[in-house]
Amino acid sequence: MSVQPITSRSFGDQIAGASLAEFWHPVAHVSEVGDQPTAFSLLGERIVLLRDADGVVAFQDLCIHRGVALSLGSAEGGVLTCAYHGWKYDRTGACVHIPQLGEGGAIPRKARIRKYQAVEKYGLVWVALEEPRCDIPSWPEDMWEAPGVHGHSILPKEWRANAGRATENAADLSHLNFVHRDLIPLQDGPVIHEHVVEPTEYGLRSMYRDGPVSWEWQIHAPFTVFAKKSGLAPAGEAGGSTGGFEQNVMCWAAFHSPVDEHLTRIFYASCRNYSLDVPDAEYDGKLVGLVFDQDQVIVESQRPEHIPVELREELHLKVPDAIALGYRQLLSRLSRVGPYLP
Ligand code: FES
Ligand SMILES: [Fe+2]
Repeated sequence: MSVQPITSRSFGDQIAGASLAEFWHPVAHVSEVGDQPTAFSLLGERIVLLRDADGVVAFQDLCIHRGVALSLGSAEGGVLTCAYHGWKYDRTGACVHIPQLGEGGAIPRKARIRKYQAVEKYGLVWVALEEPRCDIPSWPEDMWEAPGVHGHSILPKEWRANAGRATENAADLSHLNFVHRDLIPLQDGPVIHEHVVEPTEYGLRSMYRDGPVSWEWQIHAPFTVFAKKSGLAPAGEAGGSTGGFEQNVMCWAAFHSPVDEHLTRIFYASCRNYSLDVPDAEYDGKLVGLVFDQDQVIVESQRPEHIPVELREELHLKVPDAIALGYRQLLSRLSRVGPYLP
């Protein structure tokens, strides 16, 4: 049996029953956030991000006065001014000035905007709409922070697709020799070998062997995929790996941000301990762009748009679809996922 049932016990009490709002989600690449307010969306909620001397801050993109988007306003020294009537809010979300009341005017105690937790990590800005049940996903063996490892991230891709569908695609072995047959096929051909999928406290994990290359797959609830590969030939070496490169390790990550139920921003990042003198664009930047384009047309075509979490829906193959089966079981452990998942 390839898939061990994911129970609430094995899946981790801190995650089971969580709603999507109770996770950290990436919202922006750090380069997309500056000292002026910028609009983003997460789980259908409009949010505004800006950066001041103490770091990045996130608010609901809604002025308490008349509901205008604060991202239309401006900021100075981290104080955000609404474009409509000029109310000013500090980094805690408290209103600190209402021009129409004049200097010293009594500001109503309720005059504050909703603030969200926000942090920068892995070159991305992460936001939690509610108190998060778990930490931001950690790279396998914390590889991103490890000495002798080089990491980079690229600007996000936007797909007209549900984040669950996109996440499942990122961890799908069976499509490599079809959708990506010209770029990243499995060396052993299209037949998928038996592989164990095991539940973990963060989600699930699987090991897969393809020719001389060992893969470790991790899916962190709800929408993060890590793929760690060992045994790759150095960049630029034609014909793929033929063995002898076991010490070469790379790991890529696909962080899927559920902008709303129909739109997903995908943040790709990777790190490696070899080919360090090769520019990132040459190492995987160009390739990743092409691979994403190939996947996008496939995933955007999927119906229903929501990923079905009931296993009786759609048709599953026990071994080739083992990771997807585990992922759908994992999603079924969440609750109050609303329109984003059925
Ligand atoms: S709507 Fe923002 S100040 Fe009036
Ligand atoms: Fe793909």
